[in-house]
Amino acid sequence: MEFKIGLIHGDGIGPEIVNEAQKVLDAVAGKYHHTFHYTNLLLGGASIDATGLPLTEETVAEARTCDAVLMGSIGGDAKTSPWYRLEPSKRPEAGLLGIRKALGLFANLRPAYLYNELRDACPLKDEIIGDEGFNLIIVRELTGGLYFGARETKNIDGVETAVDTLSYNENEIRRIAKRAFEIAMKRNKKVTEVDKANVLDSSRLWRKVTAEVAKEYPEVTYENMLVDNCAMQLVRDPKQFDVILTENMFGDILSDEASMVTGSIGMLSSASLNETSFGLYEPSHGSAPDIAGKNIANPIATILSAAMMLRYSLNLDEEADDVESAVERVLADGYRTGDIYSEGTTKVTCSGMGDAITAILKEA
Ligand code: IPM
Ligand code: MG
Repeated sequence: MEFKIGLIHGDGIGPEIVNEAQKVLDAVAGKYHHTFHYTNLLLGGASIDATGLPLTEETVAEARTCDAVLMGSIGGDAKTSPWYRLEPSKRPEAGLLGIRKALGLFANLRPAYLYNELRDACPLKDEIIGDEGFNLIIVRELTGGLYFGARETKNIDGVETAVDTLSYNENEIRRIAKRAFEIAMKRNKKVTEVDKANVLDSSRLWRKVTAEVAKEYPEVTYENMLVDNCAMQLVRDPKQFDVILTENMFGDILSDEASMVTGSIGMLSSASLNETSFGLYEPSHGSAPDIAGKNIANPIATILSAAMMLRYSLNLDEEADDVESAVERVLADGYRTGDIYSEGTTKVTCSGMGDAITAILKEA
């Protein structure tokens, strides 16, 4: 089959890790007789350097012509990069928020699980990890809440004051809740809705609407948890979670925590989906400007994001399984980039890891 894939190389380690993912996609195309047409899209700092803006209409228009978009990472060092001397709405991150909004990517899926081979990297004690480890997914609402509410910084009677607004309507909550329950149906059938309903009106609406949606999925266990408690439970007993459903800001914070708890943030993928099968796929980690250009970054999160893209947007389940098993194989064979290296394993570069995964795909 033929597909059009947008590639956002982005900033920092973005170009290196996207190149490795593209190698893997090319191997998949060869093996399964697909044709992937790639188109490069500018976003973030790279877009600022080329056009003065972190997101242009051309990028949005071109992305709309794609079946899916694969992204590396955007942003730079806030202390040293000239991008951060621009006003906030012109900085790299504004481009990412802009493309999420423009393409209606309201459903952000962020899996966090423990690779058996990488148990040593997990910062939790053995008795917490248990025999099976943990495997959860955060379903984060991505186009509402504080990130997109009215905001303003003003001077009131000589006092500088800043306001951000957290607003959700029931439709925004319902559509993301449905996604979370659908995902739970294909997993362990449990949804934990996370909020701050003891304080916030918006959270009380989240509880009300998600409870209504839960009635449509009687097989799924539904529970509510306060976000501060959830932050604690993620390190106390992550095994209790299957699907965590939450609003934009809470999801941003909890997903970093969840990925750190796995000990391998360089391994975790993510997908941002709209109402159709279109999605933007990106690793859960950032642009790591400190190691950019050194060919030492871990490309696995991006390669697994490409696998998610095969599965969710291109409907190529077998191919996605193949990529995921190839990743497991290289880990079992002992290949490690620096971030997950431990004694007795074989240290490889970013491109070395991409080559190892590609080789396994080609041979199997
Ligand atoms: C993420 C990032 C972004 C967010 C930033 C870069 C705007 O932290 O994808 O989690 O806060 O959503
Ligand atoms: Mg974040």
